[in-house]
Amino acid sequence: MVTLLENPLRLGLQQQRTPEPLILVIFGASGDLTQRKLIPALYDLKKARRLPAEMTIVGVARRDWSHDYFREQSRIGVEEFSDGIGSEAVWDDFAEGLFYCSGNMDDADSYQKLKSFLEELDGKRGTRGNRVFYLAVSPKFFKPGLRQLGAAGMVNDPMKHRIVIEKPFGKDLSSAKSLNRVVQQVCKEEQVYRIDHYLGKETVQNILVFRFANAIFEPLWNRQFVDHVQITVAETVGVEERAGYYDTSGALRDMVQNHLMQLLLITAMEPPNSLDADSIRNEKVKVLQTLHLADANNLDLCAIRGQYAPGWMKGKPVPGYRQEPDVNPESTTPTFVAMKLMADNWRWKGVPFYLRTGKRLPKKVTEIAIQFREVPLTIFKSVAQQTSPNILTMRIQPNEGISLRFEAKMPGPELRTRSVDMDFSYGTSFGMATADAYTRLLLDCMLGDQTLFTRADEVEEAWRVVTPALSAWDAPADPKTVPQYEAGTWQPTEAEFLLNRDGRRWRRL
Ligand code: BG6
Repeated sequence: MVTLLENPLRLGLQQQRTPEPLILVIFGASGDLTQRKLIPALYDLKKARRLPAEMTIVGVARRDWSHDYFREQSRIGVEEFSDGIGSEAVWDDFAEGLFYCSGNMDDADSYQKLKSFLEELDGKRGTRGNRVFYLAVSPKFFKPGLRQLGAAGMVNDPMKHRIVIEKPFGKDLSSAKSLNRVVQQVCKEEQVYRIDHYLGKETVQNILVFRFANAIFEPLWNRQFVDHVQITVAETVGVEERAGYYDTSGALRDMVQNHLMQLLLITAMEPPNSLDADSIRNEKVKVLQTLHLADANNLDLCAIRGQYAPGWMKGKPVPGYRQEPDVNPESTTPTFVAMKLMADNWRWKGVPFYLRTGKRLPKKVTEIAIQFREVPLTIFKSVAQQTSPNILTMRIQPNEGISLRFEAKMPGPELRTRSVDMDFSYGTSFGMATADAYTRLLLDCMLGDQTLFTRADEVEEAWRVVTPALSAWDAPADPKTVPQYEAGTWQPTEAEFLLNRDGRRWRRL
């Protein structure tokens, strides 16, 4: 029998390919993302021998750094944000492939300078003209950067040139479309890697394996058996030093349109015909096309926003969102969003998908909970107060794993029942920590595998789904109308009503 997972390469089950020799150009080399995530992830790949010997990395930013200074900064990043340097010989080999080239994102001369430098490196390091350009810069530089790369003729070969674009991809449907148009003017879709780092998480990829490599769950995975789905992405951190970005973005743009949407899509999609990038992305887009807010004409009944007010985290007082540095004291930007979405297709018609995400919540936890329908008749009514429905929980982070909750008889002469869990944990079963998402995504991009990256139509459809809430919440409003929740508590009461009204409640996590 042919199975979807016959080609294990795609899900990295046995992925042992090494990318072709190439130069990875990181725009935004002096930024946080490069130091905290990209360089440590690349070094992890180096240690795992997944990089070609010729691997070359060129950092680009405005500052006037030397190659050596970039190497030092990279080393600090590895020491602070990964498992460390390990063998000095491995580090020296890696550092030899690190270079720096100062330049301005919107200055044509900078690209000419970069182009000649890359050609010179091709000669020295044998990188054969292969390039990945990673835009790890502020979104306002995406368009100028793309246009300049196009004008300099640096991305005109689909076989050799790729572009990675960080999130956020646009700030609404029309800006995403306009950015996609620029992308299409300078290169082909097969060259574009739009990042959503949630897709690089092992646990997210495992949802596909869980659903499509096991025979017993799929028959239950539909409106006949599922009562509703709850997706929670809770964070304990506040806005940190990112107010400049966050106050113009908020939880709906920062988390729901991308990360939570991807979790929903992987949970809800039909089995793809194969594991190639387009088969999977086609199925995700099909779900998106049917997805909508439960009642866009009555937004209050299906989309709730909130902002954290002063409160306590780990025994310490923390300020409210509006008191954070650089946040407008009258800001209406949501730091919490809860939504009820419906997918009008054969499999899911009538099954609500409840999504919630927020900052300054009591716990960092990301999970997808599939709650199954109640038993049709409780024959234990006289002995058990109430039996609980089965719940399948996919824990994305932390404590990565999957558990299935079911009812069991408590030991003893009386017939009493209690909910118990059957549990799979990554740590116990595989005895190893899951890799950082960027490690996987960088490797896939260098290998030319787009499966874990979002396609143009996918990103646009995801914006369409959240547009009614975006438009309503972007309109000027009295700050008093934005529901508040104390930092360190779960959500504004309005978000409780979202489920209570349907006779359901949020899971206590
Ligand atoms: C980022 C958001 O994309 O994801 C951040 O911009 C958020 O605001 C982060 O904190 C959460 O990622 P993770 O992997 O820690 O769940």
